[in-house]
Amino acid sequence: MTSPAVLFVCLGNICRSPLAEAAFRAAAEQTGLSMLADSAGTADYHVGEAPDPRAIRTAARFGIDISGYRGRQAISADFTRFSHIFALDHSNLANLRRIAPAGHSAQLSLLLDLVPGREGQAVADPWYGDEEGFLATWDEVSLGARHLVAKLR
Ligand code: 4NP
Repeated sequence: MTSPAVLFVCLGNICRSPLAEAAFRAAAEQTGLSMLADSAGTADYHVGEAPDPRAIRTAARFGIDISGYRGRQAISADFTRFSHIFALDHSNLANLRRIAPAGHSAQLSLLLDLVPGREGQAVADPWYGDEEGFLATWDEVSLGARHLVAKLR
């Protein structure tokens, strides 16, 4: 079986989706799941930039270095490169549907759709808040990541 290729998508690709990518990589490595992972933003505001310093510090609290990640914008070719694409919120999901090529085979959903009882819910954008908000983001994306690894194993 080919390894799953998973893309996490938020707005800027500097807060939520890099944390989701990091949490998924960590959960997959813990269980020995072979996978490809990446993240992207629907907007081009932060292309080429490192994650937000608050996101870098949050991941570092859990022993993960995301300072080398770089922002990029989601493109329609992502729907053929990735088997699974997870939007962090509803607006990201709507924007992804807009660029999805007809007949693509990628599975597209909200990340929290994977979590029983959290279906249809968004991971809140921590950008305008304080560092505590990034910890809450970490908790949510980690929860989604653990459910994703369990589903893919
Ligand atoms: P993200 O957060 O989508 O989780 O990366 C944001 C990052 C940047 C902006 C908004 C949200 N911004 O407006 O630049």
